[in-house]
Amino acid sequence: MSEKVVAILGATGVVGRQMSELLEEREYPVKELIPLASSRSAGKTMQFRGEEVAIREATPEAFEGVDVVLGAADDATAKRLLPEAVKRGATCVDNSHAFRLYDDVPLVIPEINAEDVKWHNGIISNPNCATIIGLLPVWPLHQVAGVTRLIVSTYQAASGAGMPGLTELQREMSLVAAGEDVGETAPFAYQLAANLIPQIGGFNEVGYTSEEMKMQNEGRKICHLPNLLVNCTCVRIPVMRSHSESITMEFERPIDPDTAREVLAKAPGIRVVDDPEALRYPMPLEASDQDLIYVGRIRRDLSAPEGVNGLTLFCCGDQIRKGAATNAVQIAELL
Ligand SMILES: NC(=O)c1ccc[n+]([C@@H]2O[C@H](COP(=O)([O-])OP(=O)(O)OC[C@H]3O[C@@H](n4cnc5c(N)ncnc54)[C@H](OP(=O)(O)O)[C@@H]3O)[C@@H](O)[C@H]2O)c1
Repeated sequence: MSEKVVAILGATGVVGRQMSELLEEREYPVKELIPLASSRSAGKTMQFRGEEVAIREATPEAFEGVDVVLGAADDATAKRLLPEAVKRGATCVDNSHAFRLYDDVPLVIPEINAEDVKWHNGIISNPNCATIIGLLPVWPLHQVAGVTRLIVSTYQAASGAGMPGLTELQREMSLVAAGEDVGETAPFAYQLAANLIPQIGGFNEVGYTSEEMKMQNEGRKICHLPNLLVNCTCVRIPVMRSHSESITMEFERPIDPDTAREVLAKAPGIRVVDDPEALRYPMPLEASDQDLIYVGRIRRDLSAPEGVNGLTLFCCGDQIRKGAATNAVQIAELL
């Protein structure tokens, strides 16, 4: 691969910082790294390959001469600035929700639909983090048995709400331990320490949140399954890092837990951790700071009606790495 000038839009956030670490770790051929953030961060520095690199304010002109942009900013910033980067000849891999459902923007999990990268027009979207973590184990089972329906409950870490979410949980945990009142809880609507919050995103007219609808809408696009049925409940929990999911799947054809375990053991991006007698199952602490999705608790859906082929599993994955930064760098490698 020839060396590239790489900009990270949102370089000071949890995803942006992880991206710069991954560019080093995966030895992506970076000719020059340009960290971009808001005017609040301009002038500060960050480390890249052992050197201090100046953080610049993200403006349209900042993308002159950039080959690849890794997007790790909010939706509005991505919408405002990434088309400017494309105009100046850059290819963008974006983590925000801004472009994910556009017809001319591929939405890619490399282990599932790497081929879709080929038809990009300058922007490729990285899917929602819970969607990446949930679909990785579903996809290989779908190849064998044909998935038709998913019932998902997510248990999502505080850092899914970015740096403000991470620092807020740390702050609340020390106050709760000291028996003190936590006061203001932004970016969360309620205290998260010693609690959980069954809402991520705003509600639609039928009572589902925007985060819950992503699993269906993005899942259909990524898997090329326009009729996939998904019922999802997303819950924020007081864990620092790594999302967990309970997933019940229905299939067109029979598939038993042993076959599912064998299929998943060979699937890219997955580690099967499934030995209940030895108390081995996926947990967020163990799944953190690495790129595999841990899958376990694989069992038959006892409640599936006669004739319905149902399986249930539990999975965990680091949503900052595979759910965001690693997936984006993998896409950049495909380019
Ligand atoms: N956190 C996750 O687990 C996760 C997972 C998947 C996808 N995502 C998505 O990835 C994106 C980044 O999330 P994050 O969690 O890393 O958020 P974050 O920690 O809050 O970081 C946000 C970044 O955006 C920058 N930014 C804010 N306003 C800006 C502006 N007006 N112009 C330029 N840069 C601006 C911030 O710079 P300053 O420091 O200067 O404010 C910071 O670098 C979001 O779209 C999020 O939905 C996050």
